Amino acid sequence: MKLRFLTVSLLSALLASSFVFAQEKKGPKEDQTPLGEQMEKIGGAYRKLGRQINDATKNADSLALVATIKTAAAAALKFEPAKKADIPAADQAKFVADFQAKLKDFAATVDKLEAALKANDNATAAKLVDEMKTERSDGHKAFEKKKDKKG
Ligand code: HEM
Repeated sequence: MKLRFLTVSLLSALLASSFVFAQEKKGPKEDQTPLGEQMEKIGGAYRKLGRQINDATKNADSLALVATIKTAAAAALKFEPAKKADIPAADQAKFVADFQAKLKDFAATVDKLEAALKANDNATAAKLVDEMKTERSDGHKAFEKKKDKKG
């Protein structure tokens, strides 16, 4: 009887922990910021764009992805990076202004990409997608809080 009780307890503990694990993997990220949420939208559209940018038959779909990126980038401008809190108070205003300026540069690249796709100029479009990648790396280096080991 005792052994049965032990087995049942063990099994339910195992079930509960795997449920928690599944939730962690699938559920919305607890620590996601409003800016991070917009970035995720940019990320999803950007990944797909990268895969099809050389395919002119997909330009209508690529333009829809560009529209998603434009909307998310405009929304991102309303938020401030979490890293601001780690910056000395005296430098925070400049930090936020720099972030906004770089995000506007990024939006300008996205506008150029839109024009290239509308002109069916996929060679230029592919270069602009590369440029966006550089802007992403630079933007993250300068403005993204370093992830701690857990997150
Ligand atoms: C192709 C372009 C870009 C992609 C695909 C991208 C994608 C992402 C992703 C996936 C995250 C993580 C979101 C999360 O933790 O939930 C992120 C975070 C972040 N990105 Fe970007 N990003 C891009 C461009 C940029 C640019 C141009 C800037 C700045 C000018 C920028 C600034 C940031 C910041 C500051 C965070 C941290 C969020 C926070 O502080 O709340 N990103 N980005």
